Amino acid sequence: MKPVSGTNVRDYIRTIADFPHEGIMFRDVTTLFADPRGFRMAIDQLLHPYAGLRFDKVVGLEARGFILGGAVAHQLSAGFVPVRKKGKLPGAVISESYTLEYGEAVVEVHDDAIAAGERILLVDDLLATGGTAEAGIRLMERLGAEIIGCAFIIDLPDLGGRKRLEAMGMDVHALCS
Ligand code: PRP
Ligand code: ADE
Repeated sequence: MKPVSGTNVRDYIRTIADFPHEGIMFRDVTTLFADPRGFRMAIDQLLHPYAGLRFDKVVGLEARGFILGGAVAHQLSAGFVPVRKKGKLPGAVISESYTLEYGEAVVEVHDDAIAAGERILLVDDLLATGGTAEAGIRLMERLGAEIIGCAFIIDLPDLGGRKRLEAMGMDVHALCS
């Protein structure tokens, strides 16, 4: 991996053309996560709008949302709840299906992971069509959670995810687009 350095989170993100399919410009955050300064900057900036707010749980979307969500939950002294792809969670689950930029999928959460009224921050690396985040939000809503915010490293505005989440009444925070 080539060394990277910069003063902005975006400086640490690399783009790989035609992954996982031809025509997709894949925004690769592994270079951001691997850099000590970049990763700390990303976590600090994800947390910034929520200073002084109380959260019960951080919800991370598989897979890169787990890496961010764990660090964010630690900083907020909150619990962490994984939203996983179908068939990975061992207990009783609720499910939502969705379409994304390059496929279709189902996400699940344990049906006892969040109690009604708990205050949630939803975290993922990237917002594209918003299908994944919308499915995560629907799961949270079915459990009666209060979703305080949705935080991402990258927003791809041309794909409409932010508008889609805002139309659901969500507060969306992204570090770069
Ligand atoms: C990526 C990304 C988001 C989602 C965004 O995950 O990490 O979760 O796509 O796309 P959307 O806004 O169009 O739904 P991916 O589906 O590649 O899964 P992975 O993290 O498990 O590889
Ligand atoms: N998930 C959906 N679209 C993506 C993209 N362009 N780069 C990285 N992850 C993605």
